[in-house]
Amino acid sequence: MANERTLILCKADAVARGLVGEILARFERRGYAIAAMKMLVVDEARAKQHYAEHDGKPFFKGLVEYLTSAPIVALVIEGSDAIEGCRASIGATNPIKAAPGSIRGDYGQTIGRNLVHGSDSPDSAKREIGIWFQPSEIFARPHDLEKWLVSN
Ligand code: RTP
Ligand code: MG
Repeated sequence: MANERTLILCKADAVARGLVGEILARFERRGYAIAAMKMLVVDEARAKQHYAEHDGKPFFKGLVEYLTSAPIVALVIEGSDAIEGCRASIGATNPIKAAPGSIRGDYGQTIGRNLVHGSDSPDSAKREIGIWFQPSEIFARPHDLEKWLVSN
């Protein structure tokens, strides 16, 4: 097991439909930590940079339009094997094929509106985190967690 950071996006439909809390709760309850989070409107250049691997594919234009259409929430999620674990929680790309219990399987209907992005490898995670966050915007997991659990 490796401690990893992964880039998660709650895409425009997740924010518009009021599902951000539900999505974040799933990652937190699974034991992952939020290391960074911001809400923003994405410009075309950043959307194209993020999804550069899909440039030239038939769905690329629609994908960029989707990501730039309304505010999104970007996160860095951290924990043991967080890259693969978060992808499992998100579910298959096409929500119709995503397992019930996964985010896309529970809340999604179409591949073009599939709610969440998650990095697919350590190299992707490193590249994508650099697109969305400055190092100073990413926070370490609390090392003094017990302090926050004690009632006074
Ligand atoms: P994501 O990058 O958003 O986490 O999604 P993913 O890894 O599960 O899927 P990926 O292959 O990276 O595709 C990126 C996004 O492009 C849209 N897509 N549409 N119409 C199509 O055949 C098609 N294929 C992919 C999806 O919105 C997907 O999330
Ligand atoms: Mg992908």
